[in-house]
Amino acid sequence: MLSKVATRAFSSSSSAAYKVTVLGAGGGIGQPLSLLLKLNHKVTDLALYDLRGAPGVAADVSHVPTNSTVKGYNPDQLDQALTGSDVIVIPAGVPRKPGMTRDDLFNTNASIVRDLAKAAADHAPNAAVLVIANPVNSTVPIVAEVFKQKGVYNPKKLFGVTTLDVLRASRFVSEIAGTNPVNEKVTVVGGHSGITIVPLLSQTNHKGLDVETRDALINRIQFGGDEVVKAKDGAGSATLSMAQAGARFTGAVLDGLAGEVDVIEPTFVDSPLFKSEGVDFFSSKVTLGVEGVKTIHPLGELSDHEEELVKLAKETLIKNIQKGVDFVKQNP
Ligand code: NAD
Ligand code: LMR
Repeated sequence: MLSKVATRAFSSSSSAAYKVTVLGAGGGIGQPLSLLLKLNHKVTDLALYDLRGAPGVAADVSHVPTNSTVKGYNPDQLDQALTGSDVIVIPAGVPRKPGMTRDDLFNTNASIVRDLAKAAADHAPNAAVLVIANPVNSTVPIVAEVFKQKGVYNPKKLFGVTTLDVLRASRFVSEIAGTNPVNEKVTVVGGHSGITIVPLLSQTNHKGLDVETRDALINRIQFGGDEVVKAKDGAGSATLSMAQAGARFTGAVLDGLAGEVDVIEPTFVDSPLFKSEGVDFFSSKVTLGVEGVKTIHPLGELSDHEEELVKLAKETLIKNIQKGVDFVKQNP
């Protein structure tokens, strides 16, 4: 029998040819994300689309000597950017300025994401759609509603990218514990904004932190995005760390599509975990497979404090999700 390593090697050399489309490729996230995707050998066709600048980014990135073609598309070529795509990544949308919440972006980004989702449903209905644009807790339900209206919704192929919270949790916990962040694996569940971000520290080696340190760490993970928004002082939000997070998650989705085993990442998906309580989307560990979502894992054992944090997260998520659903119903 093949070992896991051998299976991975076999899978990645046997079926690794994918078209990945980046919508918003000219932006702060889009540009470095496109570069990182150029370095992923499973990406054989990289399609870069934006309202402005995508052909320039494509020409630039295309000189990196990996075995893929890169093409930039202008606003009148969205259909071509999408046709035949296996994975669509959406960082298109405006970022925060200091003093704003992610929800303050809703009025602008909801219609951007809705319109891109309509095009995706028309031209690449079977692609996996990875939503980065904020507020993720609402933009993911927007994509779901659009796909439902078009009759092509597949809950296994829709993902809210929450990987940056996972990266931050690893980094921040390592700063406190004096450990190597590469070895720190923290499951982060819930959603992607403030108190909906719930790191499960009790499931790590750091469950013994004193309450003050623990609460400060959780707060930093929940509001890590604000640190960057404040430091950038009006010039936007996280782009480089987000590009890394987006490339990692896209890579995981591709690994799953290619049939690799044990590909697990937390992500915000159409989830059965709390549907009976009215929470239709929730982030938890998900095994990624050839059809997208393979297994949605339960949260596992939680501390009393984490139970309380999850309860609070669910209350906010219900409202955020409903806001996205209502938007599409009222503005189809
Ligand atoms: P940016 O302004 O630098 O880039 C956004 C890009 O989107 C621009 O190039 C713009 O032309 C393009 N765009 C706008 N409307 C478009 C449309 N209809 N079609 C195609 N392209 C369009 O912003 P950024 O810093 O790259 O952030 C993008 C989004 O990602 C923001 O909403 C931000 O809040 C979000 N974000 C999410 C996470 C996360 O963890 N999920 C992390 C960081 C940022
Ligand atoms: C982040 O977590 O960095 C992003 O969601 C961007 C933001 O607005 O904070």
